[in-house]
Amino acid sequence: MPEAVTAFAPGRVNLIGEHTDYNEGLALPFAISEGVTVRAEAIDGDRMEAVAVDLDKRDAFELARPPEAQGWRAFVRGAVAELQDAGIPVRAARVEISGDVPRGGGLSSSAALEVALTLALIGLADVSEPDRVDLAKLCSRIENDWVGAQTGLLDQLASLLGEDDHALRIDFRSLEITQVPLELGDFKLVTLHSGDRHSNAASGYNQRRRECALASAELGVSSLRDATLEAVAALPSPLDRRAKHIITENQRVDAAVAALEHGDMEELGRLLDASHASLRDWYEVSTPAVERAVEKLRSAGALGARIIGGGFGGHVLGLMPPGTQVPEGAREVRPGPGARVMD
Ligand code: GLA
Repeated sequence: MPEAVTAFAPGRVNLIGEHTDYNEGLALPFAISEGVTVRAEAIDGDRMEAVAVDLDKRDAFELARPPEAQGWRAFVRGAVAELQDAGIPVRAARVEISGDVPRGGGLSSSAALEVALTLALIGLADVSEPDRVDLAKLCSRIENDWVGAQTGLLDQLASLLGEDDHALRIDFRSLEITQVPLELGDFKLVTLHSGDRHSNAASGYNQRRRECALASAELGVSSLRDATLEAVAALPSPLDRRAKHIITENQRVDAAVAALEHGDMEELGRLLDASHASLRDWYEVSTPAVERAVEKLRSAGALGARIIGGGFGGHVLGLMPPGTQVPEGAREVRPGPGARVMD
C-alpha cells in the first residue's frame, strides 16, 4: 500500500456547446494546463484531515459518516462519502489541496477539485481506477448532492479525458466521446476574467436547468435534444428562448467540428460570436462585466469571443488571429492532457 499519493486534475475550457450537457446535447471542451493538485497521505485512526493550502483553511471529520458542510469542505466530505457509497474503500488520510486554476472563474475549478480528490484517494486505497466515465458521474454526484449545483457532466469528462492538442466532442445522450484535433497553428485561444465571480451553486444555473426541464415537459420530449425550432416557437416566454439556445448551440458544436476539420478559423470565430449572442440574448447568462470582457477581446482583434462555463460571470474566451497580441490581463490556453496520478 502506498503511504502517499498525489493526483493532478486540470480545469477546462469549453470551446463551444454551453448548457447543452444537461439537455443530452453536444459540447466541445478541452482540458487546460492549470488545475488542482491533491496529495493524500495515510494516517492512523478513523478520521480524515484536509488542508486547503491556498485558503489556509483546515477541516477534520469522521471517515465513516462525513457530515454536510459548505464551500471547499463539501467537496472533500462528498468525495469521501461518494467513493464509499460506490464500494471504493477510503483510508484515513490527510489530504492537502492546492491549485493554480482560478477559483470561481468558470474554468472548472470545482470539477478539477473533485477529480483530483477522488483519484488521490483511489490511489491511496490501492484499488484499480474505475472507468473514467463512471468516475466522472461519481464526481458529478459530489457537486449535485454535496455542493448543491445541479451541473452536468461536461467539466468532469473534460478533466478526466482531455488529451494534448485535442478537444473532446461529447455527445451527452450516448456519452460517446470523440477526440477532435485542435491544431491552432499561429492562432491563439485566450481567456480573460470578467471580474465577476461565478458560482454554479449560487447563480441562476439551477433555475436555467429547471427551465429546460419545464420546456421539455411542455413539448412532450424527454430532453431538448429532441426539440425543433418550429415546436419551441409556441412555448411561453422565457422557455422559448432557453430552448432556442439549446437547439442552435448543438448545431454550432458540429459546425465548429467541421470548421476545425477544414482549418477554417474565420468560421470558428463566427460560431463563437453566435454562441455568445445566444447565451446573452436567449439563455440570459451574461452580465455587464462579461460583455465588457468580450468587447475587450474583440477590440484587440479576436475573430470571435464568448462567455464560457455556467455563466453569470467568470471567464470569457477569445480566438486571436496571428499577429495579434494576447490582450492585457488575458492568458493563452492550450489543450493538454487529462487528470493523472503523479509519481
Ligand atoms: C458548468 C457546469 C457544466 C455545464 C456548464 C455550461 O460548467 O458545471 O455541467 O452545464 O456550466 O455549459
